[in-house]
Amino acid sequence: MDQTAPVAAPTGSPVVTLATRGLTKLYRTGEVEVQALRGIDLELFEGELVVFLGPSGSGKSTLLNILGGLDQPTAGEVTFYDQVLTSYGESALTRYRRDYVGFVFQFYNLIPSLTALENVALVTEIAQAPLDPAEALGLVALDDRLDHFPAQLSGGEQQRVAIARAIAKRPKVLLCDEPTGALDSKTGILVLRAIQQVNRELGTTTALITHNAAIADMADRVVSFGDGRIVEVRVNSERCDPEELQW
Ligand SMILES: Nc1ncnc2c1ncn2[C@@H]1O[C@H](COP(=O)(O)OP(=O)(O)OP(=O)(O)O)[C@@H](O)[C@H]1O
Ligand SMILES: [Mg+2]
Repeated sequence: MDQTAPVAAPTGSPVVTLATRGLTKLYRTGEVEVQALRGIDLELFEGELVVFLGPSGSGKSTLLNILGGLDQPTAGEVTFYDQVLTSYGESALTRYRRDYVGFVFQFYNLIPSLTALENVALVTEIAQAPLDPAEALGLVALDDRLDHFPAQLSGGEQQRVAIARAIAKRPKVLLCDEPTGALDSKTGILVLRAIQQVNRELGTTTALITHNAAIADMADRVVSFGDGRIVEVRVNSERCDPEELQW
């Protein structure tokens, strides 16, 4: 990718951050073939929060990984603003991930020997226009845990450090794969609150995978998957706060 900033469309119509067309993914393991994606056409609009719902094996993580440049489709196209991601080589994809994408996974993968602040600073040191690490931790309501090591934090707090780490470089896109999967509902709500806060304050286009249909009420749009296809797209007229979700 060249180093120019993404080009936004003229104002008036929603700006599309990421779009896929005819995306398919076939995994071949020995003799076994799995069709993980069977033609996905989807647009993610700038600043929106989209929830991906669907049963296990329906292709949610496969799609998220392709959107984030971690994996390549078998066929079809992904565009990021005016750039065709699927034409990128490995090094351009690496730059795309580094400059524009924040990931949050079920497991936090923090560095145990570094404090919360240091875990976040590790990322901001190599970013072009990062948030201050303490500010990033403030966004996820961890102002009072900056000097704690991961072992001194609860699971939910560790996940919020992971979110702060993901967004401290001000990515255009935040991709979350089951971020509350390992957490109880009370802790999960704090994590969802942190994601919502980032989405609102920074305008980061956010996709969030969950098994929990209740979480869908905090989204602008809900995309449901089944067997490698999109089976439904729902627009929420209002977004709930995480605290209002019926878990
Ligand atoms: N690296 C891989 N190699 C081979 N098959 C894979 C690979 N990754 C995923 N699959 C298969 O592709 C299909 C879609 O998997 P994917 O992980 O995208 O589903 P998912 O919707 O995220 O499921 P879950 O909710 O369980 O995380 C599954 O049948 C899975 O077994
Ligand atoms: Mg998955």
